[in-house]
Amino acid sequence: MAKDWSPTSWRTHPIKQQPRWPDEADLDRALKQIAGYPPLVFAGEARSLQAGLAQVAAGNAFLLQAGDCAESFEDFSADNIREKLRVILQMAVVLTYSMGVPVMKVGRLAGQFAKPRSADFETVGDAEIPSFRGHIVNAEGPTAAARVPTPDRLVQAYHQSAATLNLVRAFTKGGFAALDRVHAWNQEFVASSPAGQRYEQLAQEIDRALHFMRATGMDTESNANLRQVDVWTSHEALLLSYEEALTRQDSTTGHWYDCSAHMLWIGERTRDLDGAHVEFLRGVGNPIGCKVGPSMTGEQVIDLCETLNPARIPGRLTLITRMGVDAIEDGLRPLLHAVKDSGHPVVWACDPMHGNTYTSENGRKTRHLESVIGEIEGFVRAHHAEGTWPGGIHIELTGENVTECVGGADDVQDADLDSRYETVCDPRLNGRQSLELAFRTAELIRTTQSS
Ligand code: TRP
Ligand code: MN
Repeated sequence: MAKDWSPTSWRTHPIKQQPRWPDEADLDRALKQIAGYPPLVFAGEARSLQAGLAQVAAGNAFLLQAGDCAESFEDFSADNIREKLRVILQMAVVLTYSMGVPVMKVGRLAGQFAKPRSADFETVGDAEIPSFRGHIVNAEGPTAAARVPTPDRLVQAYHQSAATLNLVRAFTKGGFAALDRVHAWNQEFVASSPAGQRYEQLAQEIDRALHFMRATGMDTESNANLRQVDVWTSHEALLLSYEEALTRQDSTTGHWYDCSAHMLWIGERTRDLDGAHVEFLRGVGNPIGCKVGPSMTGEQVIDLCETLNPARIPGRLTLITRMGVDAIEDGLRPLLHAVKDSGHPVVWACDPMHGNTYTSENGRKTRHLESVIGEIEGFVRAHHAEGTWPGGIHIELTGENVTECVGGADDVQDADLDSRYETVCDPRLNGRQSLELAFRTAELIRTTQSS
């Protein structure tokens, strides 16, 4: 167990990116309520995910972490959750089939609400209003009233996470994810795209393989491996008072786990070594991640590894790089080298989204699919050069047919962005773009590893 740590020890460290709650007593009331609620996940599940991630760290498996930039209180329905799952399952099948290794599926969902902001305030007309920090804190409308941090939202976020997780468990264990339904995950607007057609072919091959197995006498109906998947949950551990309220002592091991999600990560803006976020996450037993931006040095990465994973437990720490397509290859190599030299077992995952955001001519925040895939390509090449395993990808996506990112086989243009721009935060890949990314990622890894 971590030395000199408790679920509240972060409170004596400098903290960034917290809302200014107007009424402390009201905040305490909401936090006490959550602290009395049941945990959302179980410590044993977090340990299973960590064991899977240990396989990723060893180069025997791949990590697919994907979902919303920020979940929304309004855009909350069975359809929305199902469409997101469908595209994650499709991507996972493509990666598993093409790369021939197990894929750990981790959603940015069931708790991914809180957002860090570059400024505490925003100017609207001639008024200064607090920035939008995600539906767990305030509302996005550009008025002072909408932006007041409201503690009841913490409670609502807990309930929405519980309902989302319940549906994810039902879908992934109740037959929806069975491999004989691989065709059914291809929604119409995806199926009609080039990536969707390619997917149909792959699905047919899987069908034939299942037929073959049945013909040999194997009972594919009762085999749980073929019928069920594990989709784990994750989010940025940003609002530490909320995370603390869901941190519980595991009765079987006596260790502390943050039971708001299976995996938690630290953002690029809150990864100071002596800061509150690093202090909090170093003490929980969950597998954790940390974003790694372009300014990071090899020495700093090693310090992070030493602080967050002093016992060097494989699968415990995932480093999620987000450097931008132009910086990744040269920026990443010295870090890979330094970590390899240190002997720290880490999962390296590529977030190709956050370093490639720009504002289009019509004022929308967007990302080009070619830059996103270009960053994955640089990531894969850097790993190949250093002899390390490009362990995974971390993607912002939705199953819906939105127009938030440009490019892809349909060639979404700047001028199209207004037609379905629905995100409450960063621009997400739509279902078609996500599937195209999965095919191209699998190809990049396959061809680079074999050269
Ligand atoms: N259980 C296996 C796995 O998770 C196989 C599997 C079943 C699967 N349904 C799936 C893989 C859906 C990807 C997507 O890998
Ligand atoms: Mn984002």
